Amino acid sequence: MNINLKLTGDKVSAIKDGVIAIGVYDGDVLSGQAAALDTHVKSAISKAIKSGSVKTDAGVVTILFSPSGVKFDVYVLGLGKRKSLKVHILRKHIASIVKELKIRKAPSATLLFDGPADTDEAVRYLRATCDTFLLKPYEFHGYFSGKKKDKAPFKNITVNVADAKVLKRAMTLAPRWRWEAEGIWLARDLMNAPANKCTPDDMAKTAKKMCSSAGLKCKVLGKPEIEKLKMGAFLAVNAGSAKPPRFIIMEYTPKPVTSKTKTICIVGKGLTFDSGGISLKPWDGMWDMKGDMGGAASTIGIMRAIAGLKPKCRVIGLCPCTENMPDGNALKPGDVVHSMSGKSMEIHSTDAEGRLVLADGLEYATKKYKPDVLFDMATLTGACVVALGHDIIGIFADDNSLAHELMTSSDTANEAAWALPVFEDYNELLKSDVADQKNVGGRWGGAITAALFLRKFTDVKKYAHIDIAGPAIASGEKWHSPKGGTGSGVRLVVEYIMDMK
Ligand code: BES
Ligand code: ZN
Ligand code: ZN
Repeated sequence: MNINLKLTGDKVSAIKDGVIAIGVYDGDVLSGQAAALDTHVKSAISKAIKSGSVKTDAGVVTILFSPSGVKFDVYVLGLGKRKSLKVHILRKHIASIVKELKIRKAPSATLLFDGPADTDEAVRYLRATCDTFLLKPYEFHGYFSGKKKDKAPFKNITVNVADAKVLKRAMTLAPRWRWEAEGIWLARDLMNAPANKCTPDDMAKTAKKMCSSAGLKCKVLGKPEIEKLKMGAFLAVNAGSAKPPRFIIMEYTPKPVTSKTKTICIVGKGLTFDSGGISLKPWDGMWDMKGDMGGAASTIGIMRAIAGLKPKCRVIGLCPCTENMPDGNALKPGDVVHSMSGKSMEIHSTDAEGRLVLADGLEYATKKYKPDVLFDMATLTGACVVALGHDIIGIFADDNSLAHELMTSSDTANEAAWALPVFEDYNELLKSDVADQKNVGGRWGGAITAALFLRKFTDVKKYAHIDIAGPAIASGEKWHSPKGGTGSGVRLVVEYIMDMK
């Protein structure tokens, strides 16, 4: 990540050059820092609003170049009516400023933040503002021949926070925002790389490199070790691929470790390409399945953030990585395979492969680490996208307190998530004539039957399946991201870990 975020309580008069951004409400007289700035530039802003050359309509950015002879430009952001402003609207407006800064190749900017009177509310607005500045500038540079595209020119953002209480709170939280962004940028790079440039081995190499620079332990299991562990479900998915599987193990251990130290494991689905296998997917949209390692990419991103933030608990990231391809050795519908601990499953669709690799990942995590909390993160089901759309993460936890804790983390993380039911009656739909369960529960409630399938592979009470199939890949621009991989789930899980009791 190449964005530096600085929070200060500086006075407007201390700003000498560069770009200053302010928000102005429609129909209100200028107040707070906007009023102070207006005085500094000899009422150039209020005059321009009065004459109509600066618009205060929601989302409109007008630039005043060196008003009244000062050495800086003022970007005036229209916020619309004061009572209509909400956090999700503000994020989009801030994104407009970021875009403007990038178009004009401005390397840095200072934003004057006033925010609502209530401290908690103001911190939410401030986080949304900072997240947009940290996440929106990301670019993937692709593989164009000839002249390289410019790297994101925008680099430094300073946010002047008027309220001392809000500033103090934000100073303690800002490292989380920064490290989460660092992890998200890394996850996006992995997701946006095509499957021929991001194989299971490439994933492992990136994880190793990240861990060695961040001070984490990292071990990668190859095919012989995975075979030795009898991860039959994971290997079955890999059977049709020419590329060997990799099982990535990343470990963060706090200092000191006491008898009270808790352990959390995250298992990320790492399908570097999901063709569907013998149950081949239709051609249109199949290319998007280069991003079916979104769970693993975000897990690697989470570990990057955790290494920077150093929480009190032990954090383990596990990523089973493979391709899902059709060939003569590939898994077939009707086959029966066995997970690490011997549980059998009858394959009804080779395209429901994510739950197979996760089954072995969950069993490994449970047996080896005996975690207090266990998550899996996966681009698992189209059904979850149907249920929640492209912007909301699906949470499945049969422990209600965990579901609530994750919903709270979603709120603090500024990342939308919603809990869906782990409705046990639907286990009926997974019954098989020949094995412990089928890998498909039918069309209806497909995200729930997937969660029920996974639940059988761990007895950890605090277990949640996190389905990021919708938000992991953006088909168009979002307030926080360009088209492509988003790094979905990093903020949600890091906030959960940092607030873990
Ligand atoms: N990787 C897909 C799920 C997916 C869909 C991810 C859309 C991102 C966007 C998964 O492996 C899959 O194909 N699931 C099937 C399961 C079905 C066969 C039971 C699905 O959702 O259609
Ligand atoms: Zn699939
Ligand atoms: Zn998949």
